[in-house]
Amino acid sequence: MNAFVARSLEEIRFWSRIMKEHSLFLKLGFRCEDTQLIQEANAFYALFEQIEAKAHAYQANTAPETIRQFNIEVYTAASHIWVFKRKVLGLILSCKLPGANNFPLLVDHTSREANYFRNRLAQLNNGQLEPLADAIIDENVFFLKIMADHAKFIGHLLDPSERKLVEQSREFSHDFDQLLWQAQDLSSMRPQSQTRPLLGQFLDQNRVSVASLRDFKKTARDLINACRIKSIIHPLLADHVYREAERFLAIIDMFENSLKGNAPLNQVAWH
Ligand SMILES: [Fe+2]
Ligand SMILES: [Fe+2]
Repeated sequence: MNAFVARSLEEIRFWSRIMKEHSLFLKLGFRCEDTQLIQEANAFYALFEQIEAKAHAYQANTAPETIRQFNIEVYTAASHIWVFKRKVLGLILSCKLPGANNFPLLVDHTSREANYFRNRLAQLNNGQLEPLADAIIDENVFFLKIMADHAKFIGHLLDPSERKLVEQSREFSHDFDQLLWQAQDLSSMRPQSQTRPLLGQFLDQNRVSVASLRDFKKTARDLINACRIKSIIHPLLADHVYREAERFLAIIDMFENSLKGNAPLNQVAWH
C-alpha cells in the first residue's frame, strides 16, 4: 500500500467533513439579510461534500499521480474557504455584521483549521514532511490552541444558568492555556529541548488533558442530544469538537509509538 496515497486520503476524509460543517456553522451564524454570504457558505458546503464523497470513493490502490492531482484540487478549495473565513472575520471585526451569531474567535479558529489542512496537503505533495521531533512540537502547539479555543466556545455557548458546566469549561480553558504556553516554551528551546525524555513527557502530559477534555465533550454532546442541558450549541458542533479531540489523541498516540519504537528524531515520518 502506498503511504502517500493512504495518508492523503485519510487526511482529506477527515478534514473535508470538518470544512463542510464549518460552512454550515458559518451559514447558521449569518443574519437573514446576509443572502450573499449564505449563498457562499452553501456553495462551500456543496464543494466539500463532493470532495468528501470523492475521497471515500478512491481506494488505497489508486495511482499516486491521481491523488497528487486530487490533493491540488482540494488544496485550492481549502485556500478558497480560508479566504472566505478571513473575509467574514474582517466583516465582523469592522462591525459590518451587527447581530450576527458567530464569535470572531470561532471564525478565526475555523480559518486556522483550513490553513492547517491546506499546509498538510502541500507537505504531502511536496514530500516535505517535518522531522519527527519538529512535528511533535508543531502539531501539539497547533492542536493545544484548538483545544483551548473549544473549551472557551463551549463555556460561552452554554446557557449561563448551567453554572457547573460553565465552570468546568473555564477550568479546561485554563488548563489548555497553560499547556499551550508550555508547548511554546519547549518550541522556543529548540533544538536543545528535543530530547527523547522531554518529548515523551510532553506527550504524556498533553494526552492526559486531551483525554479528559475529550470525555467532557462526549458527555456534553450526549447531554445536548438528549436535550438534558440548556445551551445554544448546535448538536453537530458538539460532535465536531469531540471528533477534533479524538483526532488530536490519535496523533499523540502515533507520536508516542514512534518515540517508543525508537524512531530517529531527526527523520521524517509519515505522520
Ligand atoms: Fe473545526
Ligand atoms: Fe475546532
